[in-house]
Order: sequence, then C-alpha cells, then structure tokens
Amino acid sequence: MNAIESVLGRRVWDSRGRPTVEAEVRLSDGVTGRAIAPAGASTGSSEAVDKRDGGNAFGGLDVQEAVAAVNGEISDVLRGFDPRDQAAADQAMINLDGTANRSRLGGNALVATSMAIAHAAAASAGQPLWRYLGEDRSDFSLPLPEVQIFGGGAHAGRRVDIQDFMVIATGAQGYTQALEWTAEVYRAAGTLMQDAGLMQGVADEGGFWPAFETNEQALDYLVRAIERAGFTPGDEMAISLDIAATDFGADGRYRLATDARDVDSDALSEMLLGWLERYPIVAIEDPLGEDDHEAMAKFTAAAGPHVEVIADDFICTSADLIKAAHAGGACNTALIKPNQAGTLTETKAALDAARAAGWESIVSARSGETEDVTIVHLAVGWGVKQLKVGSFARSERMAKWNEGLRIAEVLEGDRMAPRDAFPWGRGA
Ligand code: PGA
Ligand code: ZN
Repeated sequence: MNAIESVLGRRVWDSRGRPTVEAEVRLSDGVTGRAIAPAGASTGSSEAVDKRDGGNAFGGLDVQEAVAAVNGEISDVLRGFDPRDQAAADQAMINLDGTANRSRLGGNALVATSMAIAHAAAASAGQPLWRYLGEDRSDFSLPLPEVQIFGGGAHAGRRVDIQDFMVIATGAQGYTQALEWTAEVYRAAGTLMQDAGLMQGVADEGGFWPAFETNEQALDYLVRAIERAGFTPGDEMAISLDIAATDFGADGRYRLATDARDVDSDALSEMLLGWLERYPIVAIEDPLGEDDHEAMAKFTAAAGPHVEVIADDFICTSADLIKAAHAGGACNTALIKPNQAGTLTETKAALDAARAAGWESIVSARSGETEDVTIVHLAVGWGVKQLKVGSFARSERMAKWNEGLRIAEVLEGDRMAPRDAFPWGRGA
C-alpha cells in the first residue's frame, strides 16, 4: 500500500514578509505534495490558532516551533497512513494536538500538513487536486470571483472602518470574462483615485489604500469605477462588502472612526441596510460582531433573501458554529477558510454543514498569503460557487486567479454556476 513516509516542515515567508509554515509530504511511492499555511489579520476568536514563537525575532511571529512539530511529532504520527484517507490522517493530528484550538502544535502546522497530504494523494493518483477532490462529481465549474478594489480596516491602517470594498461580476458569462471585467474596474478605480488625489498605494490584499473622508465615499467611488469601466452597476458588476465588524466593536457597541460615530447594533444595522437600498450591494460579510447573535439574526431577516449575509468571524469555518448560527436565524452564507478550521476534513465538514443549512458558501484566502493555490482547487473540487482571494494585484492574489484560468482550460470552457444559482439572480 502507498503510505505516508515522512512530513518535512520548513519555514517560508508570506506576502507580508512574515514567517509561515510549509509542509512537504513524502509518500512511499516517491511522490511528494506541498502546501503553505496562510495567516489572517482580522481573526475570529474561535479560529484554530497559529503557533508563533514570541520573543524578539520577526516581532515574535517566528514559526520554528510549528516547523519543528511538523518535522517531529506530526511526521512520526502520520508515518504509515494511507494518503487517500484524509479523515484518518487529520484525526490523528487533531488527537496528537489535544487542544480545542490547535494551540499546542499550531493550526499553521496542521493546515499546511493536511493540505500537503491531499496534494500528495492527488499527485500519486496522477490527477490535479481539483479532480481528485471531486472524484464523485461528474460536473465541474469555476467559482465566481469576489475581488477587492479598496482595502480598509485592519488591512489599511484603519483608514476607513470597512475592511473590504469588493466587486462581483454578476453578469459575466464565465470565469475568464469575470476576471477581464474585474481588471477593467480595478484600473478605472486606480485612475479615479489618482485624479482625485486620493491614491495612497495598496492595502494588504492588493486593493487601493483609500484616503476617503467617510465610509460611504468609498461606496460612491466604487460605483463610479464600475461605470467608468463601462459596466452597469448591479446588473453587470455588483458590490460586495466585508464589514469585519468584530474589529471595531464588541458587546453591541461599535466605533465608526472614519465617520466619527459611536453606534449600537441597531444603528449599525440601520446604516448598513440603508447602504443595501442605495447601492448595488449583493453580499455583506460580518455586518455585526462575532458576539452579536441577536442583532445578526435581525439583520439577516431584514436584508432579505436576495443578499448574501456572509459569516466569517461569526462562524470561523466551524460546522458547530454554522449549525448554531443557522438555528438562530443568523446569516445565510459561509466563508470557508481552511486555516480557521485547522484541517481539510474539518473544512469540508463546515462546508457540508453550510449546505445542510441551505446556505451558500465562499472559499476564501487570508490577508497573509503566498504562492499556494490550494484553495482554488478546493473551490472547484468541492463545487463551491464563489471564491474570495483579495484584490486583482500582487502575485499571491494573482497566483490564485491564474490557477483558475488553467483549470478553465482543462475543463474546456470556463463555465461558472448560472446566474440564477445565486441568491441575487433569483429575482427580487
Ligand atoms: P483576514 O481577512 O485574513 O485578515 O482575516 C480576511 C477576511 O476578513 O475575510
Ligand atoms: Zn472577513
């Protein structure tokens, strides 16, 4: 039987110049598979935690202990496992770690190893990862890109409160066209910012770093960028927001620093619902804080069935938290991030829980990324209709969009799910 022979851990560097963990799984048939852990900045409190060494080096962010765990304990425990039995290998790592938040060995050590096992198993089977993960599917499609144009919040020195101002090419016929339209809007937004003297460079995920006076000004500029690029806002290019409210509020109180306002849950909800009415917004992520359950349920009911109310920090890619949110009427779409869960098995369990709840799902990257493109394969292989990887600039982002183009070529067509497969396409 083909079996895992060893796992090699090494320290590599992410898109923000921080250390992160790469794992390389070697099988007895000589095949290897490799993956790198990403890292978040606006993290939810229920996420699997990255193991960081502390101390002086690299601001305490070094990962020598997590790398040592991969080379030592994790490699030892996985030796002899069938690489095709992802669930058994992941469970062995979870048991070995022994903590609820993966803090002993590190979520970064676990997720890199877990993804590397899948890469090795796919390579050993002579298949691309997306096809290996989708072995039981007969039909594949590309995910609809959700792309950041302006970056704010924790990713841009809190210049505006809202973290991501994004576009979704809701009218595009296929993945290739969705990227082409996005490229035009990104360019148009850059030109607008230059002309208005608002250009300050780019934020963590490659979106323009805004110098806006208010949060709403960013929305106005986004609509203008869509129009300047020649598209109809709403019909062809719609807006999507990640409010990341956990970053500026707790216990039902929120500080909108850009707008110089302190608001409670009701006032924040009212402001956002007003935006949903006045701007062509089809998706809104973490509109309220991760602890604001009742307000989130109220917001979801009011936002209506044709807007995606996306849970990121609110559910942290946890099947249990998705079930609880669904039971409480909060949110209708799950953001799926493998490193929040810790292993691919738990990531898939969260996706399955979202599907059982009748939710939509979006596979997502983190603000700290690398050349690793595993998440693109997860989206295609698992049949997830949407993908969020940050902006349309910088190679750690473009590596993902470009991988989608390669997969589209193999699929002999770049079909995405039809428009009416999305909540906003079902007619308001
Ligand atoms: P993060 O941001 O990776 O910094 O958490 C991404 C997001 O909030 O969706
Ligand atoms: Zn988010």
